[in-house]
Amino acid sequence: MSELDLSVNIAGVTFKNPVFTASGTFGAGREYADFIDINTLGAVTTKGVSIVPWEGNKPPRIAEVHGGMLNSIGLQNAGLEKFIQEDIPFLRQFGTKIIVNICGHTAEEYVSVARELYDADVDMLELNISCPNITEGGIAFGTDEKALYDVVYDVKSFARQPLSVKLSPNVTNISKMAKIAADAGADALSLINTIVGMKIDVHTRKPVLNNVYGGLSGAGIKPVAVRMVHQVRTAIPYIPIIGMGGISSGEDAVEFLLAGASAVSVGTANFENPRATSFILQGIRDYMTKYGFSSLNEIKLDE
Ligand SMILES: Cc1cc2nc3c(=O)[nH]c(=O)nc-3n(C[C@H](O)[C@H](O)[C@H](O)COP(=O)(O)O)c2cc1C
Repeated sequence: MSELDLSVNIAGVTFKNPVFTASGTFGAGREYADFIDINTLGAVTTKGVSIVPWEGNKPPRIAEVHGGMLNSIGLQNAGLEKFIQEDIPFLRQFGTKIIVNICGHTAEEYVSVARELYDADVDMLELNISCPNITEGGIAFGTDEKALYDVVYDVKSFARQPLSVKLSPNVTNISKMAKIAADAGADALSLINTIVGMKIDVHTRKPVLNNVYGGLSGAGIKPVAVRMVHQVRTAIPYIPIIGMGGISSGEDAVEFLLAGASAVSVGTANFENPRATSFILQGIRDYMTKYGFSSLNEIKLDE
């Protein structure tokens, strides 16, 4: 049987396979190293990194719901300095690509992170302008056309690595936001981030999350994510897309590839099964073998 080619090129970076981890669900990989061989991943997308440490929101900030979970973590992280000193060397031990998810309260903060990473040994930046859990920055950029254009343009002007812009699904017209990001210089798009949701405890009659609202992720958001990938692929055929939202099997991943993604990121599924990425990668191989595909670009939607 001929070898399967799972490699994929996104914005000039060659990934050995299309299975990445989704930001915020995999740390910098330490928690998972006992469960999976990090060398087998196409890429690790780190959790959001800001220029200085962020404390995040007060608990409760996680809630299970049917078909997924809500989180209002608020991008807690130890800041860029610690990230550069500890996380990059840790990840560089492995034969996987490093995508750094960057966050900020202001455009200047995003730019500062990209500038500080100029000389860092990382492969791609992912601009998180879509976090629903912070009061300044985050989703405010992802839902405002001018702010989106400006922050992408500014970060792109200072970044050395290719830039993927992580779009918010909390908009009416995802293709329009995608076009704005592409026009401003995005090399790729990551979609989708979480969808704003809420859970109420009917016994206490209080919101479950301290932050009241949180981001919905997991199986329940997959059809929305697949639809958005397809819409953006149709609107902008040339831009590579990293698809995510509720992927927990090889067939889920293939659905995103068929919708037009070049690669996929796995988030919430890691919490249920820390070996989810390995299972998904094997599932893609099994699918290719079953249908006689030898490379990923043969997997095309029959429209
Ligand atoms: C606990 C948690 C933390 C997250 N943190 C980040 C983050 O730091 N930056 C980011 O861009 N997305 C973050 N996300 C969003 C995920 O990367 C992903 O876009 C989303 O969860 C959809 O994928 P999934 O359904 O496979 O989880 C987070 C999601 C979860 C559940």
